[in-house]
Amino acid sequence: MSTTFQLDTATSRANPTPAPMKRLTVPAIKERKAGGTTEQPLVMLTAYTARQAQLLDEHCDLLLVGDSLGQVIYGLPSSLQVTLEMMCAHGAAVVRGSYQSVVVVDMPFGTYETSPAHAFASASRIMAETGCAAVKLEGGAQMAETIAFLVARGIPVMAHVGLTPQAVNVLGGYNARGRSQQEHEKIVADGLAVEAAGAFAVVIEGVVEPIAIALTKSLEIPTIGIGASAQCDGQVLVTEDMLGMFERVPRFVKRYGNLAETIAAAAGTYAGEVRARSFPGADQTYQPRKPKT
Ligand code: KIV
Repeated sequence: MSTTFQLDTATSRANPTPAPMKRLTVPAIKERKAGGTTEQPLVMLTAYTARQAQLLDEHCDLLLVGDSLGQVIYGLPSSLQVTLEMMCAHGAAVVRGSYQSVVVVDMPFGTYETSPAHAFASASRIMAETGCAAVKLEGGAQMAETIAFLVARGIPVMAHVGLTPQAVNVLGGYNARGRSQQEHEKIVADGLAVEAAGAFAVVIEGVVEPIAIALTKSLEIPTIGIGASAQCDGQVLVTEDMLGMFERVPRFVKRYGNLAETIAAAAGTYAGEVRARSFPGADQTYQPRKPKT
């Protein structure tokens, strides 16, 4: 799949058409951390659609097609109901809409846990159907064998430790992890295990800060924090959260926009104009051509 094509503006709403450019690679992302430090922190945001990817691409190093799309796009109660078909469809859209970021697609719950071979079947389908560069899966030491299996067969893996949302029913909620010494040690061991297994980067989600700092210091691969620490080698947020699309967001989210208000205000103005019959106006209305004389 081409990653440097130009969109045909006659058939697409893309505007402006992005210029072809070379896409970042997984090794380039990994190499951004050298000698234990990342001079330029890695920027990652979630993307679920082609247009969103077009808008985010030039600002990001990585775009994550997260299984958070279950809640954000589909209104599902958690990510557990997300399917491989959903991830493939949205992953392909994000690859089509991006030109420079490394696109990582989440492996949905139930598609990788039973065996490394099962994980390979699911991950290879995601890679083939989307054109993405890597997959992400949740879990630490217990997924190490699977991560090694995938990497050895050509599938770059981003790991995800700490608060792992697919395990919400085991964890009992989405609260920050690692408050007990035992859990602290378990999460650090998970980080070390996924690095040893060959993951090229690891998302650290929802942990008390000392865990994120300890892992960032001890791992050679980049750590990407969400609700973790500014000391991580990079950060990720759910784009709709940081754009202010939802009334309630977790404490670790900072709002960089207020899109919900903008959309509601625009819809309200449109509705008022439709009801007042002032939309469409003359500018938006076609008239018959004047006959040539
Ligand atoms: O699904 C997702 O969006 C994620 C991020 C929150 C890291 O996994």
